[in-house]
Amino acid sequence: MTMDATSQRLLMCRPTYFAVDYAINPWMDPSAPVDAALAVRQWEQLRQTYLDLGHTVEEITPVPGLPDMVFAANGGTVIDGKAMAVQFRDPQRADEAPAYRAWFEAAGFEMYDPKHVNEGEGDVLLAGDHLLAGTGFRTAHAAHAQLQEVFGYPVITMQLVDPRFYHLDTALTVLDERTVAYLPEAFSPGSQAVLRRLFPDAVHATMADAEVLGLNAVSDGRHVVLPAQATDLAAKLRDRGYETIGVDLSELRKAGGGPKCCTLRLRQGKASK
Ligand code: ARG
Repeated sequence: MTMDATSQRLLMCRPTYFAVDYAINPWMDPSAPVDAALAVRQWEQLRQTYLDLGHTVEEITPVPGLPDMVFAANGGTVIDGKAMAVQFRDPQRADEAPAYRAWFEAAGFEMYDPKHVNEGEGDVLLAGDHLLAGTGFRTAHAAHAQLQEVFGYPVITMQLVDPRFYHLDTALTVLDERTVAYLPEAFSPGSQAVLRRLFPDAVHATMADAEVLGLNAVSDGRHVVLPAQATDLAAKLRDRGYETIGVDLSELRKAGGGPKCCTLRLRQGKASK
């Protein structure tokens, strides 16, 4: 099987001010030590991995006092040259939204403002011609209707049920136009049925993979960048013909984030879908 890799335009934010100062998900323990310098080195390796794959990486300037700003996936949803800004559930992250919005505007994207809590690509993933949209912990269900209206893709609501997998991108990875990998038990029974219907050939991850944030992966259709600790998932993906590249983001995981959380896909237009 030959698989075509798409060269991607990505937005990242250097974890200059990264810390775990508050707890807004079960991974975060403000009393546990975090090696901030190691977090930066691990992030630089992730960035270099993308460059080596031929992707373009743009950087947004980190803002002091916003320790989670490194998680660029939460900065917006960018598809077909349109950028939808975000509205965070938690006040600790609220000021990230205007920073990302300003970046999209300066970069020339057509801007849309959220009417409801919407945590961007953390909860909104384009899979072929469907937008999969998570809800249950962060992004409000009401945001899904706005996403459909703005982007014009059918939105499929995915009900998340496990607080450790609070964003859709911690429970499901889009591998290519046709396939996804996911942890079934992170979803409600109805959402599991929808996933089986839409993606009969999906890769099912184990809890052990999900517990190291293995599903927080970035695929270009051929190469899958995922946490190095997700060894079972990597083996399954290789069996399917993907090339896997393990990265260690142990420090950022203390905030509940992995490779995908650090990475926002900038989809210019139909051609770069
Ligand atoms: N500490 C951040 C939060 O809880 C982590 C965000 C991870 N981002 C993601 N796309 N899953 O909001």
